[in-house]
Amino acid sequence: MSKKVLSVLLATAMTASLLVGCGASAAAPAADAAAPAATEEAAPAEEAAPAEEAAPAADEATAGKKVGVAMPTKDLQRWNQDGANMEEQLKAAGYEVDLQYASNDVQTQVSQIENMINGGCNVLVIASIDGESLGTVLETAKAAGIPVIAYDRLIMGTDAVSYYATFDNYMVGTKQGQYIIDTLDLNNAAGPFTMEITAGDPGDNNAKFFYNGAMDLLKPFIDEGKIVVKSGQVDFEQVATASWATENAQSRMENILSSNYADGTNLDIALCSNDSTALGVENALAANYKGNYPIITGQDCDVANVKNMIDGKQSMSIFKDTRTLAAQVVKMVGQILKGETVEVNDTETYDNGKGVVPSYLCEPVFADINNYKELLIDSGYYTEADLQ
Ligand code: GAL
Repeated sequence: MSKKVLSVLLATAMTASLLVGCGASAAAPAADAAAPAATEEAAPAEEAAPAEEAAPAADEATAGKKVGVAMPTKDLQRWNQDGANMEEQLKAAGYEVDLQYASNDVQTQVSQIENMINGGCNVLVIASIDGESLGTVLETAKAAGIPVIAYDRLIMGTDAVSYYATFDNYMVGTKQGQYIIDTLDLNNAAGPFTMEITAGDPGDNNAKFFYNGAMDLLKPFIDEGKIVVKSGQVDFEQVATASWATENAQSRMENILSSNYADGTNLDIALCSNDSTALGVENALAANYKGNYPIITGQDCDVANVKNMIDGKQSMSIFKDTRTLAAQVVKMVGQILKGETVEVNDTETYDNGKGVVPSYLCEPVFADINNYKELLIDSGYYTEADLQ
């Protein structure tokens, strides 16, 4: 790390914003969130008072119902946790669950969704691979009267999506950008600081929110020359990473380093939208870079990246507790099936091309070496052994 960066680092105490996501119970074990449905489920009809016509038990709307959960891939850590949490919490709430992973293959995901529709699913929860690719198959769901919840990634170009449940994606980016501003004291430091940008998959609507959240804060420093992107790759299309793949981020960063930093120029900042791409950048730096180590941002608190944070090879990540997102979706599934008002907290931001999709945004939480124990271990998300 350069003396300039180090001095600013020492001068700037980073205050981690510890925010609670998904309302008051964000850190609460997922079971709490699912318990109400489970409790309702647990009251069998024979316990109803025989004397009077009992109001239909709330669980009559959900008992025996089947939920299709379509996840994009097992190749990226978080989706394994998302799928497991969804399955566990939906089953705890009394639902039958059809959980499928599509290996990041769009046609496979389309087929899986078709099978869910034909297989009697009453609600679909979908984390799309390519948000633009599900319009046709979801027309079938709509025709069958099957509500769809877009999970974490907005599905585009269709009015068949009833609700969207995610984390505040723009806020993920602003937290990354603000971390860089604070750590380097960009408002006061002379600079210039070098930066390279690694964004996400162009087919993932989230990726543009992450990129815009960070770049809306950092672009003014680029425009004034205090941040210099030596590769010249600044636009989203130039810095996107297909499939969020670590190997794609790594090979692109290897090319950037050999073309622009082999002359001894220090790289001060690596803005990475998530942990799988940050890992690729870290791999490239380890193999090809001898200069002062840069600030590196990330998102998801993947195990490999938390280990790198502990080892000083990644500066920060963003914790998006998949248990709270799953709990929120289970709650929404129950509300939909019971014909209740579905809890949302954003009815303006997420226009999917066919109109604004009512959304529930959980709050992403800043994570670094100073608070990962509290966020990840004390909350039971990981064990100490996971991070050895
Ligand atoms: C995004 C997700 C991020 C990131 C990426 C790759 O849609 O919101 O958390 O991990 O996919 O999985």
